[in-house]
Amino acid sequence: MRNHDRREFLKFMGRSGLSLSLLPFINACQSLGLSSSPPITAIEPSAKDDLVLSPGLNWQKLISWGDSLNSSELFGFNNDYIAFVPINDDEAILWVNHEFPHPLFISNYSRGSKRTKQQVVLEQKALGGSILKIVKTKNGWQYLPNDPVNRRIDGTTKIPFANNETIAGSKFAIGTFGNCAGGYTPWGTILTCEENYHDYYGEVIKTKQGFKRVHAYDEFAWDKFFNYSPEHYGWVVEVNPITGYTKKHTSLGRYAHECATVTEARDGRIVVYSGDDKNDECIYKLISKEQNSIDKGDLYVADTKNGKWISLDIEKQPLLKKYFKNQLEVLRHTRFAAHEVGGTALDRPEDIEIDPQTGDVYVTLTNNKPKGNFHGSILKISEKDGDAAALEFQASTFLAGGELTGFSSPDNMVFDRKGNLWMTNDISDKAMNNPPYTKFKNNGLYYIPLRGAHAGKVFQVGSAPSDAELTGPCFSDDGRTLFLSVQHPGATTKDLKKPTSHWPDGGNSTPKPSVVTISGPALDKLVL
Ligand code: FEO
Ligand code: CA
Ligand code: CA
Ligand code: CA
Repeated sequence: MRNHDRREFLKFMGRSGLSLSLLPFINACQSLGLSSSPPITAIEPSAKDDLVLSPGLNWQKLISWGDSLNSSELFGFNNDYIAFVPINDDEAILWVNHEFPHPLFISNYSRGSKRTKQQVVLEQKALGGSILKIVKTKNGWQYLPNDPVNRRIDGTTKIPFANNETIAGSKFAIGTFGNCAGGYTPWGTILTCEENYHDYYGEVIKTKQGFKRVHAYDEFAWDKFFNYSPEHYGWVVEVNPITGYTKKHTSLGRYAHECATVTEARDGRIVVYSGDDKNDECIYKLISKEQNSIDKGDLYVADTKNGKWISLDIEKQPLLKKYFKNQLEVLRHTRFAAHEVGGTALDRPEDIEIDPQTGDVYVTLTNNKPKGNFHGSILKISEKDGDAAALEFQASTFLAGGELTGFSSPDNMVFDRKGNLWMTNDISDKAMNNPPYTKFKNNGLYYIPLRGAHAGKVFQVGSAPSDAELTGPCFSDDGRTLFLSVQHPGATTKDLKKPTSHWPDGGNSTPKPSVVTISGPALDKLVL
């Protein structure tokens, strides 16, 4: 163990509360070779422009950016969260998020050149989400072009606010975008999360002095052509995958929602966990009023230092009345309210998943570079008495990123049928393969057993093509297929004639974000 590794390991042991006296025992077991054989053969980190997988895992392309869903709609760009909605053993509907554009690929816009409205419309159309029918064949799952269920929800779709609310003078928003991760409800709908919404129409920031409008990041800056309120974005959108009906929920608050992970409390109320992916922002949970709707509920922010969920209800927090007229205004400016009532600033909360066997809530905290945290960690929250509606919990660090654990900047997660964890990571495209990330090479897919001889060990089982991030891991109902998004291959491309990735088609082709299916004997061995 090199000094650097040992330092990180000791730091992890300290944070996780494990006894340092176990160290010699672990070392002795390793040197005697007492550990059982690994559940899957790990791969070495790779810088190859390909999707590289462990032996016994195979991938196939399911659908790529630009593929036809029907005669008028195309599969969007930068696919992210995936939800699998079963119809029967051989048919299912897939929901796929489309997060952000790469203007050079989509609209041939490069920074500094003249921007046109047509370019912005192409980008709006490439984001949101896709609904597509898939069928199981002897060659695995395939998508069915022109199926009546196929449709797009995008940056131009008219979407009402739930409860007939009016936000910034309108009962509906135009479009959804920044759709990062999401969740699904027990009643068969999808939740898709608007994450970095401020890049498109800017933001209205709440300060102690009042409200301040800021304009958008200049590469996207749709606000140069469309006068839409920034407050129409940053919500969680519920989508019915059969009818295509959508609504934006105000109950979950407005911030850079990464995910919306749904579970049921002991009394049948619905609990939705969500994180705000920004440095020093918080995690939240909504406890619904009703058992089959999240239109209305009580929103809480986590105080992870004291293990408490703090109410964001203006009637229970007189302090909030100093800054806000009513509860809807609190929800429109959730970040400000959360810090006022004592929500804990965290290191960029990303995905949240719930251990199906214990109810423990796992939260990836991807990194916080200004604070010197480059590799992030996975936080574990154990709700009091295992009830998702509890207002007290215990928090601990499950794993810290770094060279010892073998991953950096954790992002999406999913549990498999056996209750083991799969995770992807997100080292940003410019930082990848450079210090302090050099050793991790391209972004990856990781398998982390939670039980048995290898509990808590991290096995890298996939490596993404150049500049890409693997996102949206999602299992088919039988567990034998892992759907995975390959997002932003070739993201650092500056010249369309010289893309930095040619994945998935090879040769001198343009890179295409795509959804792949992963299956094979190594996966069967882990999940069946
Ligand atoms: Fe879109 Fe927080 O990752
Ligand atoms: Ca993410
Ligand atoms: Ca997830
Ligand atoms: Ca991320």
